[in-house]
Amino acid sequence: MTSQTPATTPASTDDDATTGPTNTTELATIVELCKRRGIIFPTAEIYGGVRATWDYGPLGVELKENVKRQWWRTMVQLRDDVVGMEQAILGPSQVWEASGHLANFSDPLVECANCNNRFREDHLREEQFGDERGEGTLSCPNCGQQKFGDARNFNLMFKTHSGPLADDNSVVWMRPETAQGMFVDFTTVQRASRKKPPFGIAQQGKSFRNEITPGNFIFRTREFEQMEMEFFVEPGTDEDWHQYWIDERMAWYADLGIRPENLRIREHLDDELSHYAKRTVDVEYFFADSSLGWNELEGIANRTDFDLNAHSEASGTDLSYYDQANEERWTPYVIEPAAGATRATLAFLIDAYTVEEVPDAKGNLQARTVLKLDPRLAPYKVAVLPLSKKDELRPTAREVFDLLKVEWMADYDETQSIGRRYRRHDEIGTPFCVTVDFDTIDDRAVTVRDRDTMEQDRVAIDDLVAYLAARLPR
Ligand code: GAP
Repeated sequence: MTSQTPATTPASTDDDATTGPTNTTELATIVELCKRRGIIFPTAEIYGGVRATWDYGPLGVELKENVKRQWWRTMVQLRDDVVGMEQAILGPSQVWEASGHLANFSDPLVECANCNNRFREDHLREEQFGDERGEGTLSCPNCGQQKFGDARNFNLMFKTHSGPLADDNSVVWMRPETAQGMFVDFTTVQRASRKKPPFGIAQQGKSFRNEITPGNFIFRTREFEQMEMEFFVEPGTDEDWHQYWIDERMAWYADLGIRPENLRIREHLDDELSHYAKRTVDVEYFFADSSLGWNELEGIANRTDFDLNAHSEASGTDLSYYDQANEERWTPYVIEPAAGATRATLAFLIDAYTVEEVPDAKGNLQARTVLKLDPRLAPYKVAVLPLSKKDELRPTAREVFDLLKVEWMADYDETQSIGRRYRRHDEIGTPFCVTVDFDTIDDRAVTVRDRDTMEQDRVAIDDLVAYLAARLPR
């Protein structure tokens, strides 16, 4: 076996976390901002909504898509050893029988005999005894009584029927993870892309889990988005590759602006490992809310050859790899960085949220709320703000907007005072505001304001695209 092992292993950012976490922004603050600015809000609100189910408005969808775009750029575009794919959301029972999900993908459910509310037992133990395996008699968070029956395993898969007949033959399942697509399609994608291990297949998209207790805004929902990559390696090189991907993934969050002290790696204990895993670590973020604390953003697992073997056996199609150079056949081991796109969006929002004091025109200190999102994640990269709504500024302001909109997501905003418009764009994280004023008509120059420093530069319209391009990384 001659397969490569990773060439470099970047230093883990875990070592930077010497000061302890610094995030103090609670979820309620972010929920309020998201609702007020139409970023993320309850689904079908006019009908009372659906528990823990959220819609993404104009800014929310841009932000989430930017998170996904950055992941795709790092994990697929900038590498020659990872390719993408997209699997159907609905899948047949055989896939989920072979993967072990129909038998094992469950959480322990307890029901209060007094008020009939249902909870996840491990979450209650964590809350009440500080450990999800903590011993003691559980109290119902709803009615306070200690009348729980025995826990039973509750399967998290959503089942539905495909076609007009709702019988056993038409059962299909909504995928609870995107990962299985990469195993089931392994040979097809490997041959089509002419890749040899070590190489990866990446996918992003919706997954569905009938969570017993969803909550904490978009942290845990029944419908969410994942960003997963299965990296196929020669057995024996798996442990090195696992470490490589742990370091890469930590670096991704930090590079996109999460403060390193709010990130850490947590090793799974033997008794919490999934049925397929040899070793798993979580990338955790520090949430200021005590209900979350340090909690998972991403799991990075060594899934061994479990899935390819299971699908080979169940389908009768051999999913092993023929290593031509060495004239041998083997089943790759799999390293899986599995991230939540919606959960990562929440962490980026929280970590970017800043309230600072700045002097107003009279020198009095005023609170300023700024979403210090990395420009690559910001919903709008630039806003064009004519100083006034007067007709004489509009043609030039529209000209500037037309110039910028082909390059970046740009906003055109001419209502309210310029101060209020700056505050709005600070609060939604727009890195640059371009003001068109009465001098612009004569000197063909605009004022560009930087979100973070609030410094202003006068820039010729002809130079504006180059000026912004130098400051807006892709
Ligand atoms: N293929 C492996 C897998 O799915 P996981 O740890 O169950 O592993 C990966 O899920 C990531 O998906 C989690 O770290 C989390 O970010 C996200 N995720 C899982 N369940 C979620 C839920 N109910 N709501 C939001 N995100 C979720």
